[in-house]
Amino acid sequence: MQVKFTKLEQALKVETLVLPFIEGEKELITEERLKEAVKPALALKDAKGKKGEVTLFYPAKEDVPKRIFLVGLGKKEEVAMEPVRQAYAAIAKKLVSMKIDTASVVVPEIERLRPADISGAVAEGIFLSDYSFNKYVSPEKEEDKYQPLKSITFVGNLSKGVKETVREKLIIADAVKYARDLQNDTADLVCPEYLAQQAKAIAKEHGLKCTVFNKKEIEKLGMGLLLAVNRGSSLEPRFIVLEYKGNPRSKDKTAILGKGLTFDSGGYNLKPTKFIETMREDMSGAAVTLGVIKGAARLKLKKNLVGVIPATENMIGSRAYKPGDIYKSMSGRTVEIGSTDAEGRLIMADALTYTVRTIKPDRIVDFATLTGAILITFGDLVSGVMTNEERLYEKLYEAGEATYERVWRLPIYDEYRELLKSDIADIKNLGGRPAGSITAAAFLEKFVEKTPWLHLDIAGVSWLKKERHYIPKNGTGTGVRLMVEFLKMI
Ligand code: BES
Ligand code: MN
Ligand code: ZN
Repeated sequence: MQVKFTKLEQALKVETLVLPFIEGEKELITEERLKEAVKPALALKDAKGKKGEVTLFYPAKEDVPKRIFLVGLGKKEEVAMEPVRQAYAAIAKKLVSMKIDTASVVVPEIERLRPADISGAVAEGIFLSDYSFNKYVSPEKEEDKYQPLKSITFVGNLSKGVKETVREKLIIADAVKYARDLQNDTADLVCPEYLAQQAKAIAKEHGLKCTVFNKKEIEKLGMGLLLAVNRGSSLEPRFIVLEYKGNPRSKDKTAILGKGLTFDSGGYNLKPTKFIETMREDMSGAAVTLGVIKGAARLKLKKNLVGVIPATENMIGSRAYKPGDIYKSMSGRTVEIGSTDAEGRLIMADALTYTVRTIKPDRIVDFATLTGAILITFGDLVSGVMTNEERLYEKLYEAGEATYERVWRLPIYDEYRELLKSDIADIKNLGGRPAGSITAAAFLEKFVEKTPWLHLDIAGVSWLKKERHYIPKNGTGTGVRLMVEFLKMI
Protein backbone atom coordinates (compact mmCIF):
# COMPACT_ATOMS: atom_id res chain seq x y z
CA MET A 1 0.00 0.00 0.00
CA GLN A 2 1.08 3.51 -0.78
CA VAL A 3 0.70 6.38 1.65
CA LYS A 4 0.52 10.00 0.53
CA PHE A 5 -0.16 13.35 2.14
CA THR A 6 -1.85 16.47 0.91
CA LYS A 7 -3.67 19.62 1.98
CA LEU A 8 -7.45 19.86 1.82
CA GLU A 9 -7.46 22.33 -1.10
CA GLN A 10 -5.67 19.71 -3.18
CA ALA A 11 -8.16 16.99 -2.28
CA LEU A 12 -11.32 18.59 -3.64
CA LYS A 13 -11.08 16.97 -7.04
CA VAL A 14 -10.38 13.40 -5.98
CA GLU A 15 -12.79 10.60 -6.75
CA THR A 16 -13.25 9.38 -3.17
CA LEU A 17 -13.00 11.50 -0.06
CA VAL A 18 -13.55 10.38 3.52
CA LEU A 19 -14.73 13.08 5.91
CA PRO A 20 -14.91 12.78 9.68
CA PHE A 21 -18.22 13.66 11.26
CA ILE A 22 -18.67 14.27 14.95
CA GLU A 23 -22.14 13.91 16.40
CA GLY A 24 -23.85 17.30 16.51
CA GLU A 25 -20.84 19.21 15.12
CA LYS A 26 -21.58 20.22 11.57
CA GLU A 27 -19.00 22.97 11.84
CA LEU A 28 -16.19 20.46 11.67
CA ILE A 29 -16.36 20.78 7.90
CA THR A 30 -14.92 24.22 7.32
CA GLU A 31 -14.19 24.13 3.61
CA GLU A 32 -17.00 26.05 1.87
CA ARG A 33 -17.53 23.83 -1.16
CA LEU A 34 -17.55 20.65 0.94
CA LYS A 35 -19.91 22.25 3.40
CA GLU A 36 -22.30 22.97 0.54
CA ALA A 37 -21.91 19.46 -0.84
CA VAL A 38 -22.72 17.66 2.41
CA LYS A 39 -25.61 19.98 3.35
CA PRO A 40 -28.44 17.96 1.76
CA ALA A 41 -27.28 14.74 3.40
CA LEU A 42 -27.09 16.43 6.78
CA ALA A 43 -30.45 18.15 6.32
CA LEU A 44 -32.10 14.78 5.74
CA LYS A 45 -30.40 13.58 8.94
CA ASP A 46 -29.21 10.42 7.19
CA ALA A 47 -25.84 10.97 8.78
CA LYS A 48 -25.87 11.65 12.50
CA GLY A 49 -22.20 11.20 13.28
CA LYS A 50 -22.80 8.19 15.51
CA LYS A 51 -19.75 6.13 16.37
CA GLY A 52 -18.76 3.86 13.48
CA GLU A 53 -21.54 5.12 11.19
CA VAL A 54 -20.65 5.16 7.48
CA THR A 55 -22.68 7.28 5.07
CA LEU A 56 -21.92 7.43 1.39
CA PHE A 57 -23.26 10.00 -1.01
CA TYR A 58 -22.60 11.34 -4.45
CA PRO A 59 -22.66 15.13 -4.67
CA ALA A 60 -23.43 15.86 -8.31
CA LYS A 61 -21.35 19.01 -8.33
CA GLU A 62 -18.24 20.31 -9.98
CA ASP A 63 -15.13 20.86 -7.92
CA VAL A 64 -15.99 18.41 -5.17
CA PRO A 65 -15.19 14.70 -4.91
CA LYS A 66 -17.46 12.29 -6.78
CA ARG A 67 -17.98 10.17 -3.71
CA ILE A 68 -17.95 11.35 -0.16
CA PHE A 69 -17.96 9.01 2.80
CA LEU A 70 -18.90 10.49 6.13
CA VAL A 71 -17.46 8.58 9.03
CA GLY A 72 -19.19 9.00 12.36
CA LEU A 73 -16.91 9.46 15.36
CA GLY A 74 -19.57 9.83 18.04
CA LYS A 75 -19.78 12.68 20.54
CA LYS A 76 -16.81 15.01 20.73
CA GLU A 77 -16.04 14.26 24.37
CA GLU A 78 -16.07 10.53 23.65
CA VAL A 79 -13.65 10.61 20.74
CA ALA A 80 -10.56 8.63 21.68
CA MET A 81 -7.94 6.50 19.96
CA GLU A 82 -9.81 3.21 19.95
CA PRO A 83 -13.17 4.48 18.66
CA VAL A 84 -11.22 6.26 15.90
CA ARG A 85 -9.40 3.04 14.97
CA GLN A 86 -12.72 1.21 14.87
CA ALA A 87 -14.50 3.89 12.83
CA TYR A 88 -11.76 3.97 10.20
CA ALA A 89 -11.68 0.20 10.11
CA ALA A 90 -15.36 0.34 9.16
CA ILE A 91 -14.51 2.76 6.33
CA ALA A 92 -11.61 0.65 5.09
CA LYS A 93 -13.80 -2.45 4.98
CA LYS A 94 -16.49 -0.55 3.09
CA LEU A 95 -13.90 0.65 0.56
CA VAL A 96 -12.52 -2.85 0.08
CA SER A 97 -15.99 -4.38 -0.30
CA MET A 98 -16.80 -1.79 -2.98
CA LYS A 99 -13.44 -2.47 -4.68
CA ILE A 100 -12.38 1.14 -4.19
CA ASP A 101 -8.61 0.84 -3.76
CA THR A 102 -7.73 4.53 -3.61
CA ALA A 103 -9.11 7.16 -1.27
CA SER A 104 -8.28 10.46 0.36
CA VAL A 105 -8.95 10.62 4.06
CA VAL A 106 -9.38 13.90 5.92
CA VAL A 107 -7.77 13.54 9.34
CA PRO A 108 -10.03 14.69 12.17
CA GLU A 109 -8.83 17.49 14.41
CA ILE A 110 -9.79 17.32 18.06
CA GLU A 111 -8.17 19.89 20.36
CA ARG A 112 -7.98 17.48 23.26
CA LEU A 113 -5.99 14.86 21.32
CA ARG A 114 -2.49 15.14 19.84
CA PRO A 115 -2.59 15.28 16.03
CA ALA A 116 0.01 12.51 15.76
CA ASP A 117 -2.07 10.26 18.03
CA ILE A 118 -5.30 10.77 16.16
CA SER A 119 -3.66 10.38 12.73
CA GLY A 120 -1.95 7.28 14.03
CA ALA A 121 -5.30 5.84 15.10
CA VAL A 122 -6.84 6.64 11.69
CA ALA A 123 -3.89 4.95 10.00
CA GLU A 124 -4.06 1.88 12.25
CA GLY A 125 -7.79 1.45 11.72
CA ILE A 126 -7.30 1.45 7.97
CA PHE A 127 -4.06 -0.50 7.67
CA LEU A 128 -4.82 -3.23 10.20
CA SER A 129 -8.28 -4.02 8.87
CA ASP A 130 -7.12 -4.36 5.25
CA TYR A 131 -6.17 -8.04 5.53
CA SER A 132 -7.22 -11.35 4.09
CA PHE A 133 -5.55 -14.75 4.26
CA ASN A 134 -6.55 -16.11 0.88
CA LYS A 135 -3.52 -17.75 -0.69
CA TYR A 136 -5.24 -21.14 -0.89
CA VAL A 137 -8.67 -19.95 -2.02
CA SER A 138 -9.38 -20.14 -5.73
CA PRO A 139 -11.90 -17.40 -6.53
CA GLU A 140 -14.64 -18.40 -8.95
CA LYS A 141 -14.46 -15.02 -10.61
CA GLU A 142 -11.54 -12.63 -10.75
CA GLU A 143 -13.67 -9.95 -9.07
CA ASP A 144 -14.33 -12.20 -6.08
CA LYS A 145 -10.66 -12.00 -5.23
CA TYR A 146 -9.73 -9.86 -2.24
CA GLN A 147 -8.23 -6.65 -3.50
CA PRO A 148 -6.22 -4.77 -0.88
CA LEU A 149 -6.14 -0.99 -0.73
CA LYS A 150 -3.59 0.53 -3.11
CA SER A 151 -3.21 4.11 -2.02
CA ILE A 152 -4.45 6.20 0.90
CA THR A 153 -3.86 9.94 0.95
CA PHE A 154 -4.00 11.59 4.36
CA VAL A 155 -5.50 15.03 4.04
CA GLY A 156 -4.99 18.04 6.30
CA ASN A 157 -2.44 20.46 7.68
CA LEU A 158 -0.15 17.63 8.60
CA SER A 159 3.11 18.23 10.45
CA LYS A 160 6.30 16.28 9.85
CA GLY A 161 5.61 14.38 13.05
CA VAL A 162 2.18 13.34 11.86
CA LYS A 163 3.52 12.05 8.54
CA GLU A 164 6.27 10.18 10.36
CA THR A 165 3.71 8.55 12.66
CA VAL A 166 1.54 7.44 9.74
CA ARG A 167 4.54 5.91 7.95
CA GLU A 168 5.51 4.13 11.17
CA LYS A 169 2.01 2.73 11.55
CA LEU A 170 2.22 1.28 8.07
CA ILE A 171 5.46 -0.53 8.92
CA ILE A 172 4.00 -1.84 12.18
CA ALA A 173 0.78 -2.97 10.47
CA ASP A 174 2.91 -4.85 7.93
CA ALA A 175 4.68 -6.59 10.80
CA VAL A 176 1.33 -7.51 12.36
CA LYS A 177 0.11 -8.96 9.06
CA TYR A 178 3.36 -10.87 8.67
CA ALA A 179 2.68 -12.46 12.07
CA ARG A 180 -0.93 -13.21 11.10
CA ASP A 181 0.19 -14.93 7.91
CA LEU A 182 2.55 -17.15 9.87
CA GLN A 183 -0.24 -18.09 12.29
CA ASN A 184 -2.83 -18.72 9.61
CA ASP A 185 -0.78 -20.74 7.15
CA THR A 186 -0.94 -24.51 7.23
CA ALA A 187 1.21 -26.28 9.82
CA ASP A 188 2.36 -28.56 7.05
CA LEU A 189 4.30 -25.58 5.72
CA VAL A 190 4.94 -23.62 8.93
CA CYS A 191 7.17 -26.22 10.60
CA PRO A 192 10.23 -25.61 12.81
CA GLU A 193 12.58 -25.34 9.82
CA TYR A 194 10.19 -22.88 8.15
CA LEU A 195 10.34 -20.62 11.22
CA ALA A 196 14.13 -20.86 11.06
CA GLN A 197 14.07 -19.87 7.39
CA GLN A 198 11.86 -16.90 8.21
CA ALA A 199 14.33 -15.74 10.87
CA LYS A 200 17.20 -16.13 8.40
CA ALA A 201 15.30 -14.20 5.74
CA ILE A 202 14.69 -11.32 8.18
CA ALA A 203 18.37 -11.41 9.14
CA LYS A 204 19.45 -11.31 5.51
CA GLU A 205 17.12 -8.48 4.60
CA HIS A 206 18.22 -6.25 7.47
CA GLY A 207 21.79 -7.39 8.10
CA LEU A 208 21.06 -9.05 11.45
CA LYS A 209 22.73 -12.01 13.09
CA CYS A 210 20.77 -15.24 13.11
CA THR A 211 21.83 -18.54 14.66
CA VAL A 212 19.80 -21.70 14.16
CA PHE A 213 20.60 -24.80 16.22
CA ASN A 214 19.62 -28.15 14.72
CA LYS A 215 18.76 -31.30 16.68
CA LYS A 216 22.38 -32.37 17.20
CA GLU A 217 23.31 -28.93 18.46
CA ILE A 218 20.21 -28.83 20.69
CA GLU A 219 21.38 -32.15 22.15
CA LYS A 220 24.81 -30.63 22.79
CA LEU A 221 23.18 -27.68 24.55
CA GLY A 222 21.43 -30.23 26.79
CA MET A 223 17.91 -29.01 26.09
CA GLY A 224 16.29 -32.19 27.36
CA LEU A 225 12.82 -30.64 27.57
CA LEU A 226 12.70 -29.33 24.01
CA LEU A 227 13.96 -32.74 22.87
CA ALA A 228 11.35 -34.57 24.96
CA VAL A 229 8.50 -32.63 23.37
CA ASN A 230 10.03 -33.22 19.94
CA ARG A 231 10.26 -37.02 20.35
CA GLY A 232 6.90 -37.77 18.75
CA SER A 233 7.50 -35.57 15.72
CA SER A 234 8.96 -36.72 12.42
CA LEU A 235 10.41 -33.22 12.07
CA GLU A 236 13.59 -32.09 13.80
CA PRO A 237 13.34 -29.27 16.34
CA ARG A 238 15.01 -25.92 15.80
CA PHE A 239 16.30 -23.41 18.30
CA ILE A 240 16.39 -19.96 16.75
CA VAL A 241 18.27 -16.87 17.94
CA LEU A 242 17.82 -13.63 15.99
CA GLU A 243 19.72 -10.52 17.09
CA TYR A 244 18.92 -6.93 16.21
CA LYS A 245 21.39 -4.27 17.37
CA GLY A 246 19.60 -0.96 16.94
CA ASN A 247 21.77 0.77 19.53
CA PRO A 248 25.30 -0.65 19.22
CA ARG A 249 26.69 1.93 21.67
CA SER A 250 24.58 0.55 24.48
CA LYS A 251 24.97 -2.78 26.30
CA ASP A 252 21.30 -2.85 27.23
CA LYS A 253 19.33 -5.61 25.57
CA THR A 254 15.87 -7.09 25.72
CA ALA A 255 15.25 -10.75 24.96
CA ILE A 256 11.94 -11.60 23.31
CA LEU A 257 11.01 -15.27 23.65
CA GLY A 258 8.30 -16.82 21.53
CA LYS A 259 6.73 -20.25 21.84
CA GLY A 260 7.18 -21.92 18.45
CA LEU A 261 5.01 -25.01 18.84
CA THR A 262 4.06 -25.47 15.19
CA PHE A 263 1.33 -28.02 15.95
CA ASP A 264 0.08 -29.03 19.38
CA SER A 265 -1.79 -32.33 19.21
CA GLY A 266 -1.47 -32.60 22.99
CA GLY A 267 0.78 -35.67 22.64
CA TYR A 268 -0.47 -38.77 24.49
CA ASN A 269 -2.71 -36.47 26.53
CA LEU A 270 -4.30 -35.99 23.15
CA LYS A 271 -6.53 -32.99 22.53
CA PRO A 272 -10.13 -33.89 21.69
CA THR A 273 -12.23 -32.65 18.78
CA LYS A 274 -13.10 -28.94 19.17
CA PHE A 275 -9.75 -28.28 20.82
CA ILE A 276 -7.25 -29.66 18.33
CA GLU A 277 -8.43 -28.03 15.08
CA THR A 278 -6.70 -24.67 15.43
CA MET A 279 -3.53 -25.87 17.14
CA ARG A 280 -1.33 -24.57 14.36
CA GLU A 281 -1.81 -21.30 16.27
CA ASP A 282 0.53 -22.62 18.97
CA MET A 283 3.45 -20.83 17.31
CA SER A 284 1.83 -17.42 17.79
CA GLY A 285 4.55 -16.40 20.24
CA ALA A 286 7.16 -17.12 17.58
CA ALA A 287 5.11 -15.14 15.05
CA VAL A 288 5.01 -12.17 17.43
CA THR A 289 8.76 -12.42 18.09
CA LEU A 290 9.60 -12.47 14.37
CA GLY A 291 7.08 -9.71 13.66
CA VAL A 292 8.53 -7.45 16.36
CA ILE A 293 12.12 -7.91 15.17
CA LYS A 294 11.18 -7.38 11.55
CA GLY A 295 9.20 -4.27 12.49
CA ALA A 296 11.93 -2.93 14.78
CA ALA A 297 14.55 -3.38 12.06
CA ARG A 298 12.41 -1.59 9.48
CA LEU A 299 11.68 1.22 11.95
CA LYS A 300 15.39 1.38 12.85
CA LEU A 301 14.34 1.31 16.50
CA LYS A 302 17.28 2.31 18.72
CA LYS A 303 17.10 -0.80 20.88
CA ASN A 304 19.05 -4.01 21.13
CA LEU A 305 16.82 -7.05 20.83
CA VAL A 306 17.38 -10.78 20.81
CA GLY A 307 14.56 -12.98 19.58
CA VAL A 308 14.63 -16.54 20.93
CA ILE A 309 12.36 -19.27 19.56
CA PRO A 310 12.21 -22.92 20.57
CA ALA A 311 10.42 -24.67 17.70
CA THR A 312 8.94 -28.14 17.48
CA GLU A 313 5.70 -30.04 16.97
CA ASN A 314 4.01 -31.94 19.81
CA MET A 315 2.87 -35.24 18.31
CA ILE A 316 2.13 -38.85 19.18
CA GLY A 317 3.91 -41.97 17.92
CA SER A 318 5.98 -44.86 19.20
CA ARG A 319 8.84 -42.57 20.16
CA ALA A 320 6.74 -39.82 21.70
CA TYR A 321 7.24 -38.76 25.33
CA LYS A 322 4.77 -40.11 27.84
CA PRO A 323 3.02 -39.04 31.03
CA GLY A 324 5.16 -40.20 33.95
CA ASP A 325 8.43 -39.80 32.05
CA ILE A 326 11.23 -37.77 33.60
CA TYR A 327 13.56 -35.52 31.59
CA LYS A 328 16.52 -33.35 32.46
CA SER A 329 16.25 -29.68 31.48
CA MET A 330 19.15 -27.56 30.24
CA SER A 331 19.19 -25.95 33.71
CA GLY A 332 19.96 -29.35 35.24
CA ARG A 333 16.57 -29.61 36.93
CA THR A 334 14.66 -32.85 36.33
CA VAL A 335 11.03 -32.61 35.30
CA GLU A 336 8.23 -35.14 35.78
CA ILE A 337 5.79 -35.12 32.89
CA GLY A 338 2.34 -34.79 34.43
CA SER A 339 0.79 -34.07 31.04
CA THR A 340 2.28 -34.18 27.56
CA ASP A 341 -0.14 -31.37 26.70
CA ALA A 342 1.66 -29.00 29.08
CA GLU A 343 4.49 -28.92 26.53
CA GLY A 344 4.74 -25.15 26.07
CA ARG A 345 6.28 -24.56 29.46
CA LEU A 346 8.81 -27.32 28.75
CA ILE A 347 10.21 -25.83 25.57
CA MET A 348 10.03 -22.32 27.02
CA ALA A 349 11.94 -23.47 30.12
CA ASP A 350 14.95 -24.56 28.06
CA ALA A 351 14.72 -21.35 26.04
CA LEU A 352 14.74 -19.34 29.28
CA THR A 353 17.80 -21.18 30.57
CA TYR A 354 19.66 -20.58 27.30
CA THR A 355 18.64 -16.91 27.44
CA VAL A 356 19.71 -16.18 31.02
CA ARG A 357 22.96 -18.13 30.70
CA THR A 358 24.13 -17.24 27.20
CA ILE A 359 22.43 -14.01 26.19
CA LYS A 360 22.25 -12.49 29.69
CA PRO A 361 19.71 -9.84 28.73
CA ASP A 362 18.59 -6.96 30.96
CA ARG A 363 15.01 -8.16 30.71
CA ILE A 364 13.00 -10.98 29.18
CA VAL A 365 9.56 -10.70 27.64
CA ASP A 366 8.05 -14.02 26.65
CA PHE A 367 5.02 -14.59 24.42
CA ALA A 368 3.38 -17.99 24.63
CA THR A 369 -0.01 -19.52 23.83
CA LEU A 370 0.50 -21.34 27.09
CA THR A 371 -2.87 -22.20 28.63
CA GLY A 372 -6.50 -22.65 27.67
CA ALA A 373 -7.21 -21.29 31.17
CA ILE A 374 -6.24 -17.77 30.09
CA LEU A 375 -8.99 -17.90 27.46
CA ILE A 376 -11.44 -18.83 30.20
CA THR A 377 -10.17 -15.95 32.35
CA PHE A 378 -10.03 -13.07 29.85
CA GLY A 379 -11.74 -14.37 26.74
CA ASP A 380 -10.01 -13.19 23.57
CA LEU A 381 -9.64 -9.59 24.79
CA VAL A 382 -6.73 -9.45 27.22
CA SER A 383 -3.32 -11.09 27.57
CA GLY A 384 -2.54 -12.47 31.01
CA VAL A 385 0.76 -11.23 32.40
CA MET A 386 2.83 -12.73 35.16
CA THR A 387 6.04 -11.06 36.25
CA ASN A 388 8.79 -10.80 38.82
CA GLU A 389 9.15 -7.03 38.29
CA GLU A 390 6.21 -4.76 39.09
CA ARG A 391 7.76 -1.62 37.53
CA LEU A 392 8.30 -3.31 34.19
CA TYR A 393 4.70 -4.51 34.25
CA GLU A 394 3.46 -0.97 34.72
CA LYS A 395 5.14 0.06 31.48
CA LEU A 396 3.67 -2.90 29.66
CA TYR A 397 0.27 -1.99 31.05
CA GLU A 398 0.63 1.52 29.66
CA ALA A 399 1.65 0.16 26.27
CA GLY A 400 -1.41 -2.07 26.42
CA GLU A 401 -3.73 0.86 27.02
CA ALA A 402 -2.09 2.90 24.24
CA THR A 403 -2.36 0.13 21.64
CA TYR A 404 -5.58 -1.44 22.97
CA GLU A 405 -3.68 -4.74 23.08
CA ARG A 406 -4.58 -4.84 26.71
CA VAL A 407 -2.86 -6.78 29.48
CA TRP A 408 -3.74 -7.64 33.05
CA ARG A 409 -1.53 -9.06 35.75
CA LEU A 410 -2.08 -12.26 37.73
CA PRO A 411 -0.13 -13.09 40.91
CA ILE A 412 2.35 -15.91 41.45
CA TYR A 413 2.09 -16.79 45.15
CA ASP A 414 4.02 -19.49 47.03
CA GLU A 415 0.90 -21.63 47.36
CA TYR A 416 0.74 -21.80 43.57
CA ARG A 417 4.43 -22.68 43.35
CA GLU A 418 3.86 -25.58 45.70
CA LEU A 419 1.39 -27.18 43.30
CA LEU A 420 4.29 -28.07 40.99
CA LYS A 421 6.04 -30.30 43.53
CA SER A 422 6.96 -33.79 42.37
CA ASP A 423 7.86 -36.90 44.44
CA ILE A 424 10.04 -38.37 41.75
CA ALA A 425 11.72 -35.34 40.15
CA ASP A 426 12.71 -31.74 40.98
CA ILE A 427 9.49 -30.33 39.54
CA LYS A 428 6.34 -31.42 37.70
CA ASN A 429 5.02 -29.75 34.55
CA LEU A 430 1.44 -29.89 35.78
CA GLY A 431 -0.26 -27.99 38.59
CA GLY A 432 -3.81 -29.19 38.04
CA ARG A 433 -6.82 -27.31 36.67
CA PRO A 434 -7.22 -24.56 39.30
CA ALA A 435 -5.27 -21.38 38.44
CA GLY A 436 -3.87 -23.12 35.35
CA SER A 437 -2.34 -19.98 33.84
CA ILE A 438 -0.60 -19.09 37.08
CA THR A 439 0.90 -22.52 37.74
CA ALA A 440 2.19 -22.53 34.15
CA ALA A 441 3.90 -19.19 34.85
CA ALA A 442 5.20 -20.51 38.17
CA PHE A 443 6.88 -23.30 36.21
CA LEU A 444 8.57 -20.82 33.87
CA GLU A 445 9.62 -18.63 36.78
CA LYS A 446 11.90 -21.40 38.06
CA PHE A 447 14.03 -21.05 34.93
CA VAL A 448 14.19 -17.26 34.83
CA GLU A 449 16.61 -17.02 37.75
CA LYS A 450 16.98 -13.31 38.62
CA THR A 451 16.40 -11.58 35.29
CA PRO A 452 13.49 -9.09 35.20
CA TRP A 453 10.79 -10.96 33.34
CA LEU A 454 7.37 -10.48 31.84
CA HIS A 455 5.43 -13.55 30.75
CA LEU A 456 2.49 -12.96 28.41
CA ASP A 457 -0.01 -15.78 28.03
CA ILE A 458 -1.50 -14.97 24.62
CA ALA A 459 -3.59 -18.13 24.16
CA GLY A 460 -6.78 -16.03 24.31
CA VAL A 461 -5.86 -13.08 22.11
CA SER A 462 -3.92 -14.85 19.36
CA TRP A 463 -6.90 -16.29 17.56
CA LEU A 464 -10.41 -14.93 17.00
CA LYS A 465 -13.44 -17.03 16.08
CA LYS A 466 -15.13 -13.90 14.69
CA GLU A 467 -13.52 -10.73 13.36
CA ARG A 468 -13.66 -7.61 15.52
CA HIS A 469 -13.25 -4.16 13.96
CA TYR A 470 -9.68 -4.09 12.60
CA ILE A 471 -8.81 -7.57 13.91
CA PRO A 472 -9.56 -10.38 11.47
CA LYS A 473 -10.77 -13.80 12.46
CA ASN A 474 -8.16 -16.54 13.00
CA GLY A 475 -4.57 -15.33 13.53
CA THR A 476 -4.56 -11.81 15.01
CA GLY A 477 -0.87 -10.89 15.31
CA THR A 478 -1.69 -9.55 18.78
CA GLY A 479 1.45 -8.71 20.71
CA VAL A 480 3.38 -7.06 17.89
CA ARG A 481 1.92 -3.58 18.35
CA LEU A 482 2.04 -3.95 22.13
CA MET A 483 5.72 -4.92 22.12
CA VAL A 484 6.84 -2.20 19.71
CA GLU A 485 5.08 0.38 21.90
CA PHE A 486 6.62 -1.13 25.04
CA LEU A 487 10.11 -1.07 23.53
CA LYS A 488 9.72 2.61 22.67
CA MET A 489 8.87 3.29 26.32
CA ILE A 490 11.78 1.52 28.01
N1 BES B 1 -1.23 -24.77 23.41
C1 BES B 1 -2.00 -25.08 24.55
C2 BES B 1 -2.78 -23.90 25.08
C3 BES B 1 -3.81 -23.28 24.17
C4 BES B 1 -5.15 -23.51 24.38
C5 BES B 1 -3.44 -22.42 23.16
C6 BES B 1 -6.10 -22.93 23.56
C7 BES B 1 -4.39 -21.83 22.36
C8 BES B 1 -5.72 -22.08 22.57
C9 BES B 1 -1.10 -25.61 25.64
O1 BES B 1 0.01 -26.31 25.22
C10 BES B 1 -1.93 -26.56 26.45
O2 BES B 1 -2.32 -27.55 25.92
N2 BES B 1 -2.15 -26.26 27.73
C11 BES B 1 -2.90 -27.11 28.58
C12 BES B 1 -2.22 -27.16 29.91
C13 BES B 1 -2.76 -28.19 30.83
C14 BES B 1 -2.47 -29.58 30.33
C15 BES B 1 -2.15 -27.99 32.19
C16 BES B 1 -4.30 -26.54 28.70
O3 BES B 1 -4.45 -25.31 28.71
O4 BES B 1 -5.25 -27.32 28.75
MN1 MN C 1 -0.46 -28.36 24.84
ZN1 ZN D 1 0.69 -25.84 23.38
